[in-house]
Amino acid sequence: MADDQVYIFDTTLRDGEQSPGCSMNLDEKLRMARQLERLGVDVIEAGFPIASVGDFEAVKVVAGAVERPIVAALCRAVEGDIARAWDAIKSARRPRLHTFLATSDIHLKYKLRKERPEVLKAVDAAVRYARSLCVDVEFSCEDASRSDIGFLSEVVEVAIEAGAGVINLPDTVGYAMPSEYGAMFRQVRERVRGIDRAVLSAHCHNDLGLAVANSIAAIENGVRQLECTVNGIGERAGNAALEEIVMAIKTRGERMGMHTGVVTEEIIKSSRLLTSITGMMVQRNKAIVGANAFAHEAGIHQDGVLKSAITYEIMTPQSVGIKHSTLVLGKHSGRHALKQRFGELGYTLTAEELDRAYASFCAIADQKKEVADEELVAILEDRATSPEEYYHLDELHVSTGTRVRPTATVELRKGDARFVDSATGDGPVDAAYRAIERITGISGKLTEYVLKSVSYGHDTIGEAFVRVDFDGVVFNGRAASTDVITGSVKAYLEALNRAQNSIRLKQGAAAAAIETGA
Ligand code: KIV
Ligand code: ZN
Repeated sequence: MADDQVYIFDTTLRDGEQSPGCSMNLDEKLRMARQLERLGVDVIEAGFPIASVGDFEAVKVVAGAVERPIVAALCRAVEGDIARAWDAIKSARRPRLHTFLATSDIHLKYKLRKERPEVLKAVDAAVRYARSLCVDVEFSCEDASRSDIGFLSEVVEVAIEAGAGVINLPDTVGYAMPSEYGAMFRQVRERVRGIDRAVLSAHCHNDLGLAVANSIAAIENGVRQLECTVNGIGERAGNAALEEIVMAIKTRGERMGMHTGVVTEEIIKSSRLLTSITGMMVQRNKAIVGANAFAHEAGIHQDGVLKSAITYEIMTPQSVGIKHSTLVLGKHSGRHALKQRFGELGYTLTAEELDRAYASFCAIADQKKEVADEELVAILEDRATSPEEYYHLDELHVSTGTRVRPTATVELRKGDARFVDSATGDGPVDAAYRAIERITGISGKLTEYVLKSVSYGHDTIGEAFVRVDFDGVVFNGRAASTDVITGSVKAYLEALNRAQNSIRLKQGAAAAAIETGA
């Protein structure tokens, strides 16, 4: 191994998957594993085979499906677990057995009810047995950061003697401070005979929000493998987030003198795939993969970014797989960003027009979070900001279930005319959107769809929010209803009506320009 390479051990499918709301079935694990391979991680921890038949099968399938990364399976330090884990990964091109036992006095006393000598014996036996099956064995001292440093060093020495090639010292409960965690590795390196025969590994939980900082402190103290998860999912507050670790090493690589083998351009795809599989959204302001990570709203920032992105961006959006950063038009935005967006929408404004538009824009922006494209167009045309409703939902009928193809019949009114059509789809909402497309002849690409309850209880109102791309311009729609399908359809219609309104305004402007010869 190159001394300056940090190996990325991804445990999204094990530590991540075992956390509330993140469980995945076999097919989902497989899709995620394939994406992790494209992402270029060095190790994929595919699961904990003894935990269930489903987990065993999933680990087995992943082991046979990926080529380049090492596939690890977790097992407690007991023969039955180790044998089962080996069964699951033995077909992998590069299998690894990852066995663990707690080393802190708290865990020994309350959980294991074992004395220290018993633990030493168990570690020796487990690692030797694992090594008899597999050449690549990792041993983890669970709760290492709360363990007595003398005993921890003894355990590490025994594990290396027994044949472990990777020693992982987790901050299992997210308790350590970066300086303490770094010092633990430094001391273990000073105390343990034969330590150079093993790769040191860190595994940090985020209970105090320090998982990434602790991981960085670890590599500054000789660690060369970091265990982490996509989007930072994992037990309780999660694990260190892969994307944050990798981009910290990449962005500050010069200072650290380190690099990883991760294909960073695959980061956003990996994050979104995980979100779509688990339904667990990342917060907007999450580093690297949150919706705001490459969005600017403050006028001074927008002006700076438009002049040169380096003013407010420490890494490029392209380096993590995002096409470009976005300038959100809201009450903090300035003229520069407004002019830019009008340009993108096809309007070239004189300084005077821009001044006028900016004044109207500020008045609207003061009242809402974000000013949408069609509202900008309306500003130019001096029109009201609420869209004229073109299509109105008169009736909706859906039929769906586990054994029927979801079908929707939609009746729309436009002025005095009524239209009705039906369509099938992947689900009732998709079917209704297709029926609307058949009636209106307008097709939109749904780029965001969020459904949330307004309060608690099963009779609560559901609010649907959609963003729909009509010919390259995105329109928002929002509607609330106790019926989520009706709400979804009304939200879509609102976006569609806004798009129609905007087209009409543009056509009006073009006709006026021809008339006046402008
Ligand atoms: O947090 C932890 O200690 C673990 C080990 C089993 C590696 O997940
Ligand atoms: Zn863990």
